[in-house]
Amino acid sequence: MIHVSELNFTYPKNRENTLHNLCFKVNKAEIFGFVGPSGAGKSTTVKILIGLLKNYRGKVNVLHQEANRVNKDFYENLGVSFEVPNLYEKFTAIENLNFFKGLYKNTGLDPLLLLSMVGLQHDAHTRVDKFSKGMKIRLNFIRALQHNPDLFFLDEPTSGLDPANARGIMDIILDLKSKGKTIFLTTHNMTVAEDLCDKLAFLVDGNISLIDSPRNLKLKYGKKSVKVEYKKHGSLHSATFALKGLGKNKEYLRVLNTYPIETIHSEEARLDDVFIKVTGRRLV
Ligand SMILES: Nc1ncnc2c1ncn2[C@@H]1O[C@H](COP(=O)(O)OP(=O)(O)O)[C@@H](O)[C@H]1O
Ligand SMILES: [Mg+2]
Repeated sequence: MIHVSELNFTYPKNRENTLHNLCFKVNKAEIFGFVGPSGAGKSTTVKILIGLLKNYRGKVNVLHQEANRVNKDFYENLGVSFEVPNLYEKFTAIENLNFFKGLYKNTGLDPLLLLSMVGLQHDAHTRVDKFSKGMKIRLNFIRALQHNPDLFFLDEPTSGLDPANARGIMDIILDLKSKGKTIFLTTHNMTVAEDLCDKLAFLVDGNISLIDSPRNLKLKYGKKSVKVEYKKHGSLHSATFALKGLGKNKEYLRVLNTYPIETIHSEEARLDDVFIKVTGRRLV
């Protein structure tokens, strides 16, 4: 669905490159996470991929078209949700949806159904200038869904939402994937990245430092050990054992058979820590 090679980009007034030699592929029905701190170049990359910034160098193939000379049909198959909602404040929620729906050929999904997917069914006829920030973000999100495209660009989709609404949006994204949709997602939230993405690209200062699955990253950078917490004489103790040969590790088996166990965890790395290890930077 997306094939980028040697992508370089410089903003007209800047001297330095904002993006350096980016290379990546996104396959159908994949959720590809573009993860990096603020200012890394995530939004710039999205703007190039959706044909807004055209003066790039390199190859950017999206839905079988070069991104700087796409035809009109390109946008029929693209769902874009930017971080900052751009909605018509004086229109109601449903008027906004109907207006944007009119820009596409596809008949699309039922606006009321979409509103109920993000808990806005009772606000269909409320003007958007009466909406809270979180409500606008949710409305902006379903706006990207309504013409039923195959490829989505979601820029920080859960940013600014409370945990329950963020979870709701994440579940919708997983549901889109199960329907064969492809999702390019940018975030600086590692929990979102880990829960949703098949592959992650780490971006810092316009460079991709690695691309891998969350699972591989955690295994590769974690310790190959298991930590057991158990109660002994009324107080909490813990012990760590190598994963290798665990089933035959006598001390491990003795602990399991002797004491009440409170927790057992394999010590794979947290992705936030992997990011710091790989890039030397924090995800803020
Ligand atoms: N319109 C612009 N003109 C010049 N520089 C820009 C413009 N937009 C973004 N930048 C710069 O490009 C870099 C990447 O920005 P951006 O793509 O918005 O990062 P992110 O989305 O990862 O936070 C930043 O250093 C930012 O200041
Ligand atoms: Mg951004």
